[in-house]
Amino acid sequence: MERGKAGESPSEYNRIAIETAQKIHAIRQSEGKRKPSFEPAREDHFPAFDRTGLGIILEYERMGNRPVSETLESEFQAQDYSLEHLGLTIGTVVRGIDLRTIDAAKAQLLRKLLLERKVIFFHEQNLDEDQQVALGRHFGELDAFPFGPPGENPYVLEIRHGRNSPGIENRWHTDVTWMERPSLGSIAQCIHAPPFGGDTLFSDSYACYLGLRAELQDAIEHLDGVHDYRVFLSQRAPGTMPDHLLKQIQEEIPFGVSHPLVRTHPETGRRALYLHGGFLRHNSLTDRRTGEVLDPKESRGLVRELLSQHARPEYTCRFRWGQGSIAFWDNRAAQHYAVSDYFPHKRVLRRVTVSGDRPFYRPIPEN
Ligand SMILES: [Fe+2]
Repeated sequence: MERGKAGESPSEYNRIAIETAQKIHAIRQSEGKRKPSFEPAREDHFPAFDRTGLGIILEYERMGNRPVSETLESEFQAQDYSLEHLGLTIGTVVRGIDLRTIDAAKAQLLRKLLLERKVIFFHEQNLDEDQQVALGRHFGELDAFPFGPPGENPYVLEIRHGRNSPGIENRWHTDVTWMERPSLGSIAQCIHAPPFGGDTLFSDSYACYLGLRAELQDAIEHLDGVHDYRVFLSQRAPGTMPDHLLKQIQEEIPFGVSHPLVRTHPETGRRALYLHGGFLRHNSLTDRRTGEVLDPKESRGLVRELLSQHARPEYTCRFRWGQGSIAFWDNRAAQHYAVSDYFPHKRVLRRVTVSGDRPFYRPIPEN
């Protein structure tokens, strides 16, 4: 009797599929018994064209195969602060702390957590502007933002969206890369949360680097790109920025600064993928050793490929804002993406940014 083919009916397909699985399993089992046991290299588990899973494994391994170091976990326990980790390698909610009353020692504790987890979160803090500025100053000087609406305190930036201004931060980026010394970190507090949506995603820039193909890591190791703030100048409403002011801004705030595509973190010594799709001139990649400017087509192709890296869900965690929630992210170790899915509802964040240093790349093995 002629045997049926897989396409004839769902039940015939399942009979064949089950028999096939049993045959393959039996062969694998007998091969496993015959062969000497060996542990395949981790790289062999992933196709050469996609090392996403490997990136997250390598990063977690470098973290000691724990979300946070044992020492730091004990220090938080001693303070009665609890930690809830949102992602394997990135993002932790700290509970039991009042950010209005922290001292230098507690700020140092939070800084250590930030360095390990790349972004840290708090709920129900409800700081006023001056309290939020005071919080930021525990971590360094603050940077004022020249292109946005300031709060009453000049170091506060209000990010307000609603019916007449849909959210536009829905792209992967790290803040203010147009600065010669981009901000170390940003501390944002939710003043008004939409009834749903408006989450912010964060992506691990160390894991993103580790998850790149080896050839791509090599290709970008010595490349710099030029960043500028043209996007803020082009968005100006008619009459809001006269030509003389535009000229003055470009004279006083450098327009076009070079940063490495792979950045060595100044505190952890780790390498991070570092770029911003909106501020980076996509045709500007240059080999810093020779000064050779890449062919514009090649430059744009590389940027396009790198820009998709942070969007892979494996590298990310997602934060749901409530009124008074705070996120403190390390701009040197993470990128973020504000989901614009709440229109026409209102979403208001208030941000302060802690001053950073000039990005550099150190071509030595990581610790
Ligand atoms: Fe941002």
